[in-house]
Amino acid sequence: MPQDTPSNDTLHVRDSRTGQELALPITNDTVPAMGLRQLKVQDDDFGMLSYDPAFKNTVSCTSRITFIDGGRGILEYRGYPIEQLAERASFEEVIWCLLEGDLPSRGQLDEFHAELSGYQAISDTVAKTLAGFPRDAHPMSMLMALVVAAGAQEPDARNVRDPAERRAQAKKLVARMPVLAAHVWRHRKGLAPVTPDPSLSYAGNFLRMVFAESDDYTVDPVLEKAMDVLFTLHGDHEQNCSTSTMRVVGSAEASPYNAAAASIAALSGPLHGGANEAVLKLLASIGSVEAIPAFMEKVRNREAKLMGFGHRVYKSYDPRARILGQIAHDVFELTGRNPLLDIAVELERIALAEDYFKSRNLYPNVDFYSGLIYQSMGFEPEYFTVLFAIGRMPGWVSQWDELMGDSEQKIARPRQVYLGERQRTVAPVDER
Ligand code: MLT
Repeated sequence: MPQDTPSNDTLHVRDSRTGQELALPITNDTVPAMGLRQLKVQDDDFGMLSYDPAFKNTVSCTSRITFIDGGRGILEYRGYPIEQLAERASFEEVIWCLLEGDLPSRGQLDEFHAELSGYQAISDTVAKTLAGFPRDAHPMSMLMALVVAAGAQEPDARNVRDPAERRAQAKKLVARMPVLAAHVWRHRKGLAPVTPDPSLSYAGNFLRMVFAESDDYTVDPVLEKAMDVLFTLHGDHEQNCSTSTMRVVGSAEASPYNAAAASIAALSGPLHGGANEAVLKLLASIGSVEAIPAFMEKVRNREAKLMGFGHRVYKSYDPRARILGQIAHDVFELTGRNPLLDIAVELERIALAEDYFKSRNLYPNVDFYSGLIYQSMGFEPEYFTVLFAIGRMPGWVSQWDELMGDSEQKIARPRQVYLGERQRTVAPVDER
């Protein structure tokens, strides 16, 4: 494993079955799991493995894309704090940064914008695939199918060992996501698609393709900025479930379109990308600020779950949630206050004040405010995860590109502990 700080530290392990001792080198606070294989009782044993359901304590790669310090609530893309990126950079700059490793110059950004715009025409295969879906099908199912359909037009995408081809396909995927997503929205509404407008920003173009009712539709700058920041906040989040999916599928040298479709599938789960929809449902089910104390009592008694609070990696405030608090304010000033906001604010106030919640690290996460904002912007809850997927695509393709260029990586192949029956005899069907 490449390491930033050379170290001579070791972890000493003693196997009580045999008395065998092992010194495993410590690198970046990890030990190589393969080193455990040396621990055997018999010479022909397979060797010791580590057991880690859901890989909660397993590092599967080195990465230089996203840094998270969950204890301190820090999130950085390529070393840049998320707060500064949200405030000072557009989502297009963030995409470039995730992919290329640094922020673009003005010239690079202009060129990149033109390049992305050039990739936004949608093929017949995509249009026909979408036409096959009933209008009330789940938008994430449609999006997944459209990404696969877009890939069918890109036979060269299979050249995953060619870095230049990888970079080209990564940009095409990022460029096409808002177009495919807007097609999904309009199909569900029974509306004709809107042609992309290269004069607009990534976020502005997307909002126009979704909401334009006529040619003279203009995008409100407050909503455009909110959409842009929301995309940025979702840009990458290191080895989360959908990104790990991208890496696992990509490790088999699958086309990035198929791998990205698998990531969309992972994201569609309510435990991952669907969480903000669940927050909205929760706020609606509480119904009023007066009903909050009774609800919180249920949470304390473990009879109800506080959706949108707590995170697997953040043990303090999710930094993305802090930024969203301000965005919510800007959007609601324009669109009028979302009636569920009062309930959300009061829930947050109680959770931040009470030891019960603080001791369990139940701080608001990115999903807590994003659903409220999306709803106020005019999006339906079922569609929220599609917005997450658009924002996350640059992260998926950057992580995939990094994986494919990493000489330490191989096809992903975890092990298991087999606890089932062995060596049974197959009786003929009539004798069972
Ligand atoms: C994400 O942004 O992917 C979610 O917060 C989930 C995660 O990081 O595990």
